[in-house]
Amino acid sequence: MFTTMRQLFFLSLLGLSSTWLWSLAGAAPLDGLTSSPDASGAAAAAAWPYGPFTTSGRDIKNANNETIVFAGTNWPGHGEVMIPEGLQYQSIETIVTKIRSIGMNAVRLTYAIQLVDEIYANNGADITVKAAFAQGLGSVNGSAVYAQFLAKNPQFNDQTTRLQVYDAVAAELARQKVYIDLDNHMSRGAWCCSDTDGNAWPGDVDFNEQNWYRGINYMANHARNWPAVVTMSMRNEFRTPNASPELAATKYNWAEWYRFEKIAAAQIHAGNPDVLIVLSGLNYDTYLTPLVQGTAFTPGTETFNPTGDFAGFSEKLVLELHNYETGATSCSGLQSSMSSKGYQAMHAEISTTKHVMPVLMTEFGFSQDATEWKKVYATCIADLLTKEKSGWFIWVLVGSYYIRSGTQDYDESWGLLTHDWSAWRSPSYLEGGLGPLIKATSSG
Ligand SMILES: *[C@@H]1O[C@H](CO)[C@@H](O)[C@H](O)[C@H]1NC(C)=O
Ligand SMILES: *[C@@H]1O[C@H](CO)[C@@H](O)[C@H](O)[C@H]1NC(C)=O
Repeated sequence: MFTTMRQLFFLSLLGLSSTWLWSLAGAAPLDGLTSSPDASGAAAAAAWPYGPFTTSGRDIKNANNETIVFAGTNWPGHGEVMIPEGLQYQSIETIVTKIRSIGMNAVRLTYAIQLVDEIYANNGADITVKAAFAQGLGSVNGSAVYAQFLAKNPQFNDQTTRLQVYDAVAAELARQKVYIDLDNHMSRGAWCCSDTDGNAWPGDVDFNEQNWYRGINYMANHARNWPAVVTMSMRNEFRTPNASPELAATKYNWAEWYRFEKIAAAQIHAGNPDVLIVLSGLNYDTYLTPLVQGTAFTPGTETFNPTGDFAGFSEKLVLELHNYETGATSCSGLQSSMSSKGYQAMHAEISTTKHVMPVLMTEFGFSQDATEWKKVYATCIADLLTKEKSGWFIWVLVGSYYIRSGTQDYDESWGLLTHDWSAWRSPSYLEGGLGPLIKATSSG
C-alpha cells in the first residue's frame, strides 16, 4: 500500500523500532490505514478548497497562489464522549450553518488519541456512538443524551461510530466551504489542560509517545477523505508534566520537544502529504521563541532546520500560539510580548527573526458577556490579528459540553453559543467585536 510503504520509509529513517513498525504494517485492516482516496493535486486544485496548501514566507497559500487567512472557532471533540460537542442540542447542519452565517471560514476540530487507541484495541473497529455516550456519561444519562443526539441527527443509528460522526461533521463543513484544522488536543478523552492531568508531555501518565504517533498518523490518513481538512496540529499545548515529576525535571525542555516534533511531523506527513502541519510551543503553547529566532534548543545545541529536518515538506510547517492574558492592561505590552513569543515569525524585517513562517492564533478567548469584549485583552488581540492578517480560532464555539471535568451538561460561559447551541451568547460582541474581526481578516 502506498501509505504503508511510505510510512515505513519515513519511520525507518527516523530509527523507530521495527517491532512497532511491523505492528503498524501488519495491523488488521483499519479503515484509516487502508483507504487510499484519490488526492491528485491537479484534481484537488480544480475545486474548493483549492488545495493542497503550502506556506510562502509569512503566508498560507492555496494551490492557486491565493493567500488564505483562517477566521474561525474551536469545535471540541476531545471530551469523554470523543465526538464533536453539541449534537444532543442541534444538528450538524444547523451548527455549521451558524458558523458560516457570521462569515467564519474555518474550524479547529479537536480529538483525543484515546479514540484511535480504542480502535486498535477493538481489532480495527471504532466503537459506536451509543457505546461512547454510555462510556462517557454512564449508562443512564448516556442513553438519555444519546436519544437526544439521535433526535437531532436522525441520519445516525445504533451502528454509527464516532469516526462516522466526525466524517459527517467534516462533510458538512466541506459542503459549506469551512476549512478544518484537525487538532490532537489530548491523549485521554477529557477536558484540557492542566500540568497535572497526565497529558502534558510525551511520557506523562496518560501520554504514551508511541500511541500518540500512531494516533496522529491514523487520523491524518483517515482525514484524507475529508476535502475540508487543510491543516493538522501535532498536539495542543505542551506543558510541564507535573503528574510525572521526574519527567518534568529531566525531559521538559526544547531539545526533547524538537526530538519528538520531528517524528510527529513525519507521522502526519506520511498519513496525509497534503496538509499543513501545525507546531505548538511550550508552557501551554505560549511561546516558540527558540524556533523563530533560530537559537539553540536547550539543553542541546541543535537549532531549527526546516529544510534539513523536515526534508520534502519544510513548506508545510505553520506555527500556532495561544494567549489567555485576559487581565492585560497594556496593549502595547501584550503585543510586543506576543511578537517575541512567536509573532515575529511574520516579520522578516525584525533583526532577530531567523525563520519567516505563518503564525496562527489557534486559541484565545474570554467570557461571552456584554462587557469583556470591550476590554484591553479582547480588543488588543483583535487589533493584532487584524494588523498581522494572521489566521485565528477563538475558544470556543460550544454552548455546553456533554461533560466537562466531571460535570455533565456543563454550561460554557466562554462559549460563543448559548447553552442549547441555539443562539449567540453575546449579541453585542458578535455585532461590535467578532463580526468586524471576521470581516477584517477572513480570506479565502
Ligand atoms: C504568487 O503571488 C505572489 C503575490 O502574492 C507573487 O509575488 C508570486 O509571483 C506568485 N507566484 C506564482 C507562482 O504565481
Ligand atoms: C445525570 O443527569 C442529571 C440531569 O439530567 C444530572 O443531575 C446528574 O448529575 C447526571 N449524573 C451524573 C453522574 O453526572
